[in-house]
Amino acid sequence: MAIEKVMVIGAGQMGAGIAQVCAQAGFEVLLNDANPEALEKGMKNIEKLLTRAVEKERISESDKTETLNRLHKSEQLKDVKSCDLAIEAIVENMDVKTKVFGELDTFAPKHAILASNTSSLPITEIAASTERPDQVIGMHFMNPVPVMKLVEIIRGLQTSDETYQAIEDMTNKLSKTPVEVNDAPGFAANRILMPMINEAIYAVHEGVASVEDIDTVMKLGMNHPMGPLTLADFIGLDTCLYIMEVLYEGFGDSKYRPCPLLRKYVKAGWLGKKSGRGFYQY
Ligand code: CAA
Ligand code: NAD
Repeated sequence: MAIEKVMVIGAGQMGAGIAQVCAQAGFEVLLNDANPEALEKGMKNIEKLLTRAVEKERISESDKTETLNRLHKSEQLKDVKSCDLAIEAIVENMDVKTKVFGELDTFAPKHAILASNTSSLPITEIAASTERPDQVIGMHFMNPVPVMKLVEIIRGLQTSDETYQAIEDMTNKLSKTPVEVNDAPGFAANRILMPMINEAIYAVHEGVASVEDIDTVMKLGMNHPMGPLTLADFIGLDTCLYIMEVLYEGFGDSKYRPCPLLRKYVKAGWLGKKSGRGFYQY
């Protein structure tokens, strides 16, 4: 089955990035968001990044125009009826995701693959909310999507080899590097990354060092491009907390306990860069 038209659900930082790379790779793209303002903002961000790419002479003006011509706004999930693939990138919450997958399953053509960009939630459980669990898969892009090369491809218990192959081929067409991962809490990327971020937050919480100094330790001491607290703000503190909760619940091991300071910030609405305040102010 050839994938030609893709719907991306969620026009936040991940969804907009995914829509952009799909459109740049020649796919027809519908970008959907339940919030019209978020949809508008996502479309504007894509245009801004493409303009910057033209200025940097990485793409031509006509590449930009053609990419934007392949990208369309969608305000209704039923628009998925014309698509071969849906990639969901909404909030990291199982109840919200399964509701959306139920609707996508109703409206999408029989052959269509339903993928989730979830950071940590079980693909097997998302798949079970549909009548096509063999055509449900994890397609986990990294942030910022236009820059980062990795896509973790996660097989749910019932994901078919045909579905896996189609998504691996699609990932290669996006000029990304696929890595096959089995369905386990946090998959591979966040099982390793998120406990480090959580530990950095504990270090702040316990007064080991300042936010800036902890970031400096990891940037200059370990050559990380961003310190863990800058990265947490960049990812979104709500997303970090959701992921830690999935790890804590999934493994039942206290080493994954989310730091109380992380909970406190999320409760205060300090979600990081996207809300203007997290460990830093923006
Ligand atoms: N969107 C698109 N492009 C972006 C961007 C964004 N948000 N931020 C930076 N870029 C681009 C810039 O345009 C720039 O490209 P040009 O040179 O062509 O202009 C390039 O990236 C480098 O940017 P900068 O020079 O401004 O800054 P930098 O060298 O510090 O790089 C960075 C920025 C690539 C984000 C780098 O800091 C980095 O790699 N940080 C770590 C990112 C990371 O770890 N991501 C994974 C997060 S975890 C995850 O995604 C999984 C999950 O489930 C939570
Ligand atoms: P975000 O908050 O920036 O964007 C989420 C968007 O989804 C919002 O615009 C919201 O309006 C929209 N939305 C919410 N419910 C919806 C619904 N029912 N239908 C349509 N749109 C809906 O979040 P994000 O950082 O882009 O994360 C999205 C997903 O990607 C999450 O599952 C997250 O775990 C995953 N992810 C995030 C990162 C990261 O670094 N932030 C990296 C990889 C994967």
